[in-house]
Amino acid sequence: MIQEGEIFRRPVKDMKPYSPPIEGRSAPNFLRLDFNERTRPPHHIVQEAVRDYAARGEFQIYPEYGDLNEVIANFAGVTSEEVIPAVGGDQAIDIITRLLVKDGDGVIIPAPTFAMLEESSHVQGANIIAPRYSGPNLKFPFDEVMEAIKPGVKLVVVCNPNNPTGTPVPKEQVEAIIEKAAKVSAGVLVDEAYNDFAPELTVVGDIGKYSNLFIVRSLSKNMGISALRAGYVISRAENIAELRKIRGPYDLPTVTALAIKTLRNPEVVADIDAYVSEVMTDSKPMLEDFYRRNNIKFFPSSAGFHLLEEPPGFIDFLRARNILVRRRPDPLGTVRVSIGTKEDTQAYIKVVEEFLRARDK
Ligand SMILES: Cc1ncc(COP(=O)(O)O)c(C=O)c1O
Repeated sequence: MIQEGEIFRRPVKDMKPYSPPIEGRSAPNFLRLDFNERTRPPHHIVQEAVRDYAARGEFQIYPEYGDLNEVIANFAGVTSEEVIPAVGGDQAIDIITRLLVKDGDGVIIPAPTFAMLEESSHVQGANIIAPRYSGPNLKFPFDEVMEAIKPGVKLVVVCNPNNPTGTPVPKEQVEAIIEKAAKVSAGVLVDEAYNDFAPELTVVGDIGKYSNLFIVRSLSKNMGISALRAGYVISRAENIAELRKIRGPYDLPTVTALAIKTLRNPEVVADIDAYVSEVMTDSKPMLEDFYRRNNIKFFPSSAGFHLLEEPPGFIDFLRARNILVRRRPDPLGTVRVSIGTKEDTQAYIKVVEEFLRARDK
């Protein structure tokens, strides 16, 4: 082999791939509380749209999108020029980052947070500034973020509510960040993947006011189509026009577009609302009460999951009983547990009770 110079860009060469524990978890007998997926399949109208498409078998045709943007815009309460569909929230994050960030630019990403937010900036060769969520409630580091917004910073990321901490960022703080970022010509990416679980936090009403605001949404958690990879960006029309230059014209598969378009059916939207409401108004209080009564420390969460301090042996005990939860390395010794339906929650509590009895014996 002829040895030549390095062909890889340094920032990529220096990275490790993000490798979540995605394998071996799809067996039907698992209760999957590890990836913040919806624990139930999507509404049958969504399933039928996918089945009809598969039955036609016409996979030789490139995707055609029709009124996809209108359907998403209607669902999100904006205009069709203010949205761009993407291959999951992941691609939404990536195209915003590629639009705004190049080698050596400053990007502020409070930590810990969703890995792909950091990943996209690393690929661009950004200099990442990472103020920490801290204190007993893992509070958002507002003062540190404001302090860090200086010339040279091109992007500020606010994940609201944050994954994995569940921390909400008050709207006034997000707006103060957007205003300060605008003064140094930086964009702000507000990741609202969990928006349906905390709709009061959204800054969607601000896109007309701020030209540097980009909102990321996902249809994985609420609609239950993680497997189809569906997300979108909301921003003002001029920004969306720029993002269209970056995302490929047929990136979104036909099957994904057809599934998203079922949002035109009120039943599909009602099904999302019903799922989210069951998680937030039935399961979540039941769980928090259970955790308090049993001295299991959880951090206050505005989303459809909790971050807990892991009682030793907790994750393995649950895994042995077909319940999957997710170890988080940061903060050390924590575990993230998605919240499912009432039935899921009862099943989970039963196994945790068993764990506590075995531990305290
Ligand atoms: C905060 C956050 N943003 C974005 C995503 C990406 O979602 P998806 O690519 O499944 O739409 C996730 C998924 O876990 C997330 O937690």
